[in-house]
Amino acid sequence: MNYVEKVKKATDFVKSKIDRVPEVAIILGSGLDRIKDGVDVSSKVRYEDIPNFPISTAPGHAGEMIFGKWNEVDVVLMNGRFHYYEGYSMKEITMPIRLFQLLGIEYLFVTNAAGGLNHAFDPGHPMIITDHINFMGDNPLVGKNVDEWGTRFPDMSKAYDPELISLAEESSKELGIEYYKGIYIAFTGPSFETPAELKMAQYFGADAVGMSTVPEVIVANHGGLKVLGISSITDRAIPDDLKPLTGEEVIEVANRTGEKIAKIFEKVLDKIKERD
Ligand code: HPA
Repeated sequence: MNYVEKVKKATDFVKSKIDRVPEVAIILGSGLDRIKDGVDVSSKVRYEDIPNFPISTAPGHAGEMIFGKWNEVDVVLMNGRFHYYEGYSMKEITMPIRLFQLLGIEYLFVTNAAGGLNHAFDPGHPMIITDHINFMGDNPLVGKNVDEWGTRFPDMSKAYDPELISLAEESSKELGIEYYKGIYIAFTGPSFETPAELKMAQYFGADAVGMSTVPEVIVANHGGLKVLGISSITDRAIPDDLKPLTGEEVIEVANRTGEKIAKIFEKVLDKIKERD
């Protein structure tokens, strides 16, 4: 079975388990599963039950799609994402995005835990992603283009939807939540970066560093979904003052930031609902 057939089969299965197509898909990053607390759950689909779907192995990642209503908006949450460092291909880690596209979902909200490269960033705050740098050395669109899914050379000039960025900013201000804005750079991981690598990333102009998000956002843009991305800044990735870092610390700080990101999303959903 080729990739297109696999995705279609997985989509048909998920479709058979839900009675309404969500408007928004939300990917929960490492330690950010508390974002799901506000959702009035109608059904859950486990990844292991979806034909051809990968299984998430990263710590802090469950393996289920949660369907329900959040602030009267139909949403699906991906509780557990796939990372390149788990050994999956770019096509495998972005299969959920294709599935969302084929379901007819309009918006993708994506979250992650990230190290702060910007000197002004303190851990524990959200960063609204304005743009990204793909430093993973691979791209999920490599290979024959599937024309029915998108164009061969997709535009990335507004990879993170400017209107959604404005709504997220407005929401943060109304809520009194301190936030940053900046550029996210993705390395493959799973090793954290050396000071020399972090210095390079700063020279490149990045504000935050992580190991995810970029492949999903590329595919979302190819497939015509509008993207809002928010990082949880979990640590200071400052090369000249780098402290040893563990995955556990990242998850612990992300847990604390998750609530703020959830509040911002909730308000953005309100604003989308009002506007529609
Ligand atoms: N580097 C890469 N990924 C991360 C980091 C980091 O410093 N913090 C959280 N995720």
